[in-house]
Amino acid sequence: MTNTLNQPRYGLDPYKDWAAREGIPISYGVALDLFEVPLGDWARVGARGAIAHFPGSGDFCNMFVLELGAGGSTSPQQHLYEELFFVLDGRGSTQIEFSDGRRRSFEWGPRSFFAIPLNAKHRHFNGSGTQRALLASTSNLPLIIKTFHNEEFIFNTPFMFADRLGKDEYYAGEGDLYLIRQGNNFWETNFVPDMGAIALTAYGDRGAGSSNIKFVLGDGVLYAHMSEIAPATYKKGHRHMSGIHVMTLSGGGYSLLWYDGQKDFDRVDWKYGTVFPPLEGQFHQHFVTSNEPSRYVATGFGSFRYPVTEANRRISIGDPGAKKQASSTSVKDGGNQIEYEDQDPRIHALWLEEMRKSGVTPKFSAPGKLIA
Ligand SMILES: [Fe+2]
Repeated sequence: MTNTLNQPRYGLDPYKDWAAREGIPISYGVALDLFEVPLGDWARVGARGAIAHFPGSGDFCNMFVLELGAGGSTSPQQHLYEELFFVLDGRGSTQIEFSDGRRRSFEWGPRSFFAIPLNAKHRHFNGSGTQRALLASTSNLPLIIKTFHNEEFIFNTPFMFADRLGKDEYYAGEGDLYLIRQGNNFWETNFVPDMGAIALTAYGDRGAGSSNIKFVLGDGVLYAHMSEIAPATYKKGHRHMSGIHVMTLSGGGYSLLWYDGQKDFDRVDWKYGTVFPPLEGQFHQHFVTSNEPSRYVATGFGSFRYPVTEANRRISIGDPGAKKQASSTSVKDGGNQIEYEDQDPRIHALWLEEMRKSGVTPKFSAPGKLIA
């Protein structure tokens, strides 16, 4: 055996290296307001952009922010990672082209949510000549680039995933609703025109007055669900794997985050555009202090259709035939949720104090007890 003179190469992170080479600002924080992150010229995309990283990002996903100037558009993009877009601000359209020449397009506005089918060529257009458009996306580029570590392959492969095209109506704001059980009902589509308007189904297991819907988008492996918390109430605390990018869409309030045995809670105050992915296995609980309901979208890795990891399958879906998924089963029964009656008494007291400060009348007479 001879010692080589070559530099030893090990412990590499091709995603981090790629992100640094892109030349756009990278923001990092427990919580980020995506309206506030600094943007820079992004040569690859032909627009302004940023990368958002969080301690709770997990191993598989990142977020991008994309700004289209007035009348602007991106250059055509194509890549072997999945990407889910949320429109924070502005109106425009997206054109999608598959390598057999088939095209789809749709028009988006504030709170639209859509998937780029895997490796489909796509281009975003700002529909306004006077206002910018601001989009946020969640992608699994970190997983893909760490796996292949070859940019030419990831960004320049013509292969057409014909099975990802989906029905025509999936690009027209329609979809298929599948009712499985509370917390696990899902909507299959590629494009949701307004996440503020889409109907949700009751999810009382997670909190009094709570509702949600899961999404299967572009037949992909990226996960998404949207939840709504009733005005002036709060949900139960729970925990799951990292990488679930929680982004507030409406309402105001805060979340507490903590690990078992931690003396004080960590806290994030949020409003439209705030993203805060909880850490791996960290308990978190969302509190609404506004008179309007609060919706948030959660995006991450491992979809309801293709959970990919056993942790995703167990926590978000559960055993076949189980009445609940582990995500909404009490920790006392081996699950990952803290029932209202088991929560730390400081939690309700703090919320009452925050309600008093905001001048909003609480809709709970006691934890989880809705005032009729
Ligand atoms: Fe959660």
